[in-house]
Amino acid sequence: MTQHLAAPSTGTSAEAPGHPTGWWQDAVIYQVYPRSFADGNGDGMGDLAGVTARLPYLRDLGVDAVWLSPFYASPQADAGYDVADYRAIDPMFGTLLDADGLIREAHDLGLRIIVDLVPNHSSDQHEWFKRALAEGPGSALRERYHFRPGKGTDGELPPNDWESIFGGPAWTRTTDPDGTPGEWYLHLFAPEQPDFNWEHPAVADEFRSILRFWLDMGVDGFRVDVAHGLVKAEGLPDLGSHDQLKLLGNDVMPFFDQDGVHEIYRSWRTILDEYPGDRILVAEAWTPTVERTANYVRPDEMHQAFNFQYLSTAWDAAELRAVIDSSLDAMRPVGAPTTWVLSNHDVTRHTTRFANPPGLGTQIRTPGDGELGLRRARAATLLMLALPGSAYVYQGEELGLPDVTDLPDEARQDPSFFRAEGQDGFRDGCRVPIPWTREGSSYGFGAGGSWLPQPGSWGAYSVEAQSGTEGSTLELYRAAIATRREHPGLGAGTDVLWLDAPEGVLALGRPGFVCTVNTTGAPVRIDAPGRLLLSSGPVAVDGDTVELPADTTVWWTV
Ligand code: NOJ
Repeated sequence: MTQHLAAPSTGTSAEAPGHPTGWWQDAVIYQVYPRSFADGNGDGMGDLAGVTARLPYLRDLGVDAVWLSPFYASPQADAGYDVADYRAIDPMFGTLLDADGLIREAHDLGLRIIVDLVPNHSSDQHEWFKRALAEGPGSALRERYHFRPGKGTDGELPPNDWESIFGGPAWTRTTDPDGTPGEWYLHLFAPEQPDFNWEHPAVADEFRSILRFWLDMGVDGFRVDVAHGLVKAEGLPDLGSHDQLKLLGNDVMPFFDQDGVHEIYRSWRTILDEYPGDRILVAEAWTPTVERTANYVRPDEMHQAFNFQYLSTAWDAAELRAVIDSSLDAMRPVGAPTTWVLSNHDVTRHTTRFANPPGLGTQIRTPGDGELGLRRARAATLLMLALPGSAYVYQGEELGLPDVTDLPDEARQDPSFFRAEGQDGFRDGCRVPIPWTREGSSYGFGAGGSWLPQPGSWGAYSVEAQSGTEGSTLELYRAAIATRREHPGLGAGTDVLWLDAPEGVLALGRPGFVCTVNTTGAPVRIDAPGRLLLSSGPVAVDGDTVELPADTTVWWTV
């Protein structure tokens, strides 16, 4: 039977205070993971020269801005999220001159550049930390980190029960300059990533100066790593639970999402506002609820925060509708745009997540049904790009790349894989270098090899293979982003209009458009809501009705 679409429910549009409008409110922002995007010098590792050479590709893809994961001087214990010098480029990625060239070239092409800022922790090779260790207990530099004596008769037990996000205790014991066991220091991530003590004024001053350094270099914004982690609860109290993993993301923790972090971002915002142009702060803030995420984007704090609740939602109409509503509702009162994100460098690519049964989380080690995953991923992208707010695209998702689930253990580099004894931490699978050409060394990634092995099937996913190919995932992204640009109504505003739709189907109204999404595994016939504009898979309109194929999204103009 044909199902009718009617229009009963409108979202209420409470007047929001605050944020001025800017390019970022409905921007499509592309994440470049520099190690794996393009290798300019043939050493098997991506670099800034490689990124610069590929900027025209990103301009043609139609994105507004590029966010680059860290490229600073770093021993690479956590792929650059362990920074030894915040004002220097790691030689593996190039030089400051290369960064300058990249920023200028991007601006000439109409692209904005967002860099990653890592303020929760430094590398253990940071000058401050090296000196703090060398100077021993009582060193003033130790106060810039969290050094504590251990518990137990000889200080042999960690100062509290916190665990590292990568597994194991969040504390490592030092050895004093005379060779005896000494104090412990806190690291919420790997031992090579000691946490800063943000109560110390020198830490705050240093980061204000780092912000200015990069703003002076011309960047358009910062993605703030672990934005929820900088402030720890007074006295570093025990968690009192051995199931930290269960609590993470569900509760405010003594080391995450403490209210004190907001003062830091208010101070940063005043710095950004001093600069000309429209520069932005983006929070990587894992919080228990979207309402708490909204705290990071109040009018005098950051501009955007990643919507991890959306990223974690299964391919299910009811669940998607609920998270879209709760995300928009949470952001409306603070006047910040909602963001939408499906993949990044920390989670299994959404093609592979959707290829597997729901409920497996965001670190998956099985390939699942690849064809199904790709069909759903394409449909999910068209839904994401029809939502009001800003959307993030992770490099390679425009090629429909799956996660590489069968990397040999010897090839893996993710510290979380080793810390968790291979039980978790499959982040290397989404970091495999991008294929640009059908054939050739590392499929055009560079003139040499690739730091993680690429599967033999990679050539078929390449930019070369998909460019100009009707129905390819790359051409779908190009068409969808171009359509969104031509019709600003698609990304604008803060509301969606839900239209009645059969179970398992979403129908949402946007200014001048309707987007229909069939999340079920079977075709569903509905009234055609307008003129077919774009679809994630083949669709045939039959007079006034249309059969929406399984796992397919269609955009209509009305
Ligand atoms: C979040 C980053 O996205 C991730 O890659 C990194 O391991 C942690 N923060 C620690 O910096």
